Amino acid sequence: MEKIEEQQKYINEIKELNKNNENLKYCILTMGCQLNENDSEKLCGMLEEMGYTKTDNFEDANIALFNTCCVRENAEDKLFGKLGELKRIKEKNGTIIAIGGCMMQEQHIIDKIKHSYPFVDVIFGTHTLYRFPEDLFKALQNKEKVKDVIDIDGEVFEGLPIKRDSKIKASVTIMYGCNNFCTYCIVPYVRGRERSRKPKDIINEVKELAKEGYKEITLLGQNVNSYLRVEREKNIEFEEYEGVNSFATLLRAINKIDGIERIRFVSPHPKDFTDDVIVAIADCDKVCKLIHLPLQSGNTKVLKEMNRKYTKEQYLNLVDKMKSRIPNLTLSTDIIVGFPGETDEEFEDTLDVVRKVKFEQVYMFIYSRRVGTPGDRMPNQVPEEIKHERFNKLKELVESQIEENNQKYVGTVQKVLVEGKSKNNPNMLTGRTDSNKVVIFEGNNDLINKIIDLKIESEHMWYLKGCLIGG
Ligand code: 5AD
Ligand code: SF4
Repeated sequence: MEKIEEQQKYINEIKELNKNNENLKYCILTMGCQLNENDSEKLCGMLEEMGYTKTDNFEDANIALFNTCCVRENAEDKLFGKLGELKRIKEKNGTIIAIGGCMMQEQHIIDKIKHSYPFVDVIFGTHTLYRFPEDLFKALQNKEKVKDVIDIDGEVFEGLPIKRDSKIKASVTIMYGCNNFCTYCIVPYVRGRERSRKPKDIINEVKELAKEGYKEITLLGQNVNSYLRVEREKNIEFEEYEGVNSFATLLRAINKIDGIERIRFVSPHPKDFTDDVIVAIADCDKVCKLIHLPLQSGNTKVLKEMNRKYTKEQYLNLVDKMKSRIPNLTLSTDIIVGFPGETDEEFEDTLDVVRKVKFEQVYMFIYSRRVGTPGDRMPNQVPEEIKHERFNKLKELVESQIEENNQKYVGTVQKVLVEGKSKNNPNMLTGRTDSNKVVIFEGNNDLINKIIDLKIESEHMWYLKGCLIGG
C-alpha cells in the first residue's frame, strides 16, 4: 500500500508540473488480451489523475503510450511500425513515448528498441506497471530515458486508479501470472508465476462496480480456475472472505452481489476444470452459460508436446460432463494450427473435435515461434504455407458451423444486455446475448444498460437482428 501512496505523490507532482497547461492529452494503443486491456484502464486512470485527457490520435498527444503483447509475432510488427511513425511525430511535437507490457519483459525486444528506436522515453514491464507515475515523472522532469523492468514476480497491488472503457461491463483481474508453461507460450516468462488477489479485494471491487451501475463482470486471469490454488497447495495463508477459498466459491460469492446481472470469466484451463466449478456454474444464475474452454489442439500427441496435460478424449469427456450438468451450455475455444511436428492427420483430430463440440465461437491462431519457449527450439517447424492451408481449412469449417448455429437463434427470444448505439448504424441499438452474440435492434435509448427480451428475426454471420417483443 505504501508503494501505491508513493506513486500517488508522483501523480500529484506531475499534476503540479502540468498545472499551467490545460489541454494535455494522451493516446494509448493496447495490444493483446483482456488482461492487457484491464492494465491499460489502470494506466488511463493514472494519466487522467495527472491531468491528461484521452485522444485517439497520436498527432494530438503529449504522451504516446503502448501497452504491448508478445503472444504472437504480429504484435511486434505492429509496435515497430507504429514507432517508426511516432519518430516523425515526436520530432515535430516533442511527444513523450512510453512503452509497457509483456513485450518489454523480453531482452531481445529491449535491445532492439535501444538500438533502432533510441528516442523512446520510458520502458516499463509487467511487474512495474504500478510505478508508471514515477517513471513518467523522471522522463518529464529530468528528461532522462527511463527503463524500469524487473524479472521477479511483481506483488499484487491494490488501489491503483482506474478509468474503465465501459459503464456497463467491467473486467476484474483475479490472478496474475501462469505456472503452466505450455510449450508454445511466452506468457509464463513475461507475466511470472501465479499469484491470486485476496478474496476480499475482489469482492469489494465488484460490490463497488455494482454500486456504480455496472451490470456485467468478467473475471480475468491466465488460468482463472486455479484461483488460490498455489496458496492452498503451498499452505500460504490467505484470508477467507465470505467463504471464498477457490474459484468455485468466488463465483458463488459474486453471484450474490446485488446489481450485477452477468458474470463471465476468461480463461480457464481444461485440466483444472474441477467438478465444484461445474456445479457452481450450474447453480449460479448470473454466470453466463457460454464458457471459454481453450482446446489448442484436438490431437493427443500434439497436446502432449504442447504440455497441455489432457488428451483428446479427456477434453471431449469434460465437454460432455459440462453439457450434461449445465443446462443450455455453449462453448468457445482457442485453437493453434501448425504447432511444430503437427502432421495433416494430427490436424484432422482438431477438425474432428470442432465438428463434435460445435463451438459457439473459435479463436484461431497460426502457431508463432516465441524466443525462449520450448516450441521455438523444436526441430520440426511446420512450413508457413502448410500452416496457412490448415488455418483456412479450420476457418471454413468454423464459419459453416457459425452459420448453422446462428440459424438456431432465429425465432427464439433472447435476454440481451443493451450496450448502446450500434457503431455501424446509429439508428439501431446493440447488445449481447448470454452467449455473447451481438444483437442489433430498433429501440429507445432508455433501454441502454438494461437486460431485455428480444425476438431474433434474422442472422448475419457476425451479428443477429432482433426486435422488441410486441414492438
Ligand atoms: N502462437 C500462436 N498462438 C498462441 N497462443 C499462445 N501462444 C501462441 C503462439 N506462440 C494462443 C493460444 C492462447 C491464446 C491467448 O493465444 O491459443 O489460448
Ligand atoms: Fe500460456 Fe498455457 Fe499459461 Fe495459457 S495456460 S497463459 S496458454 S502457458
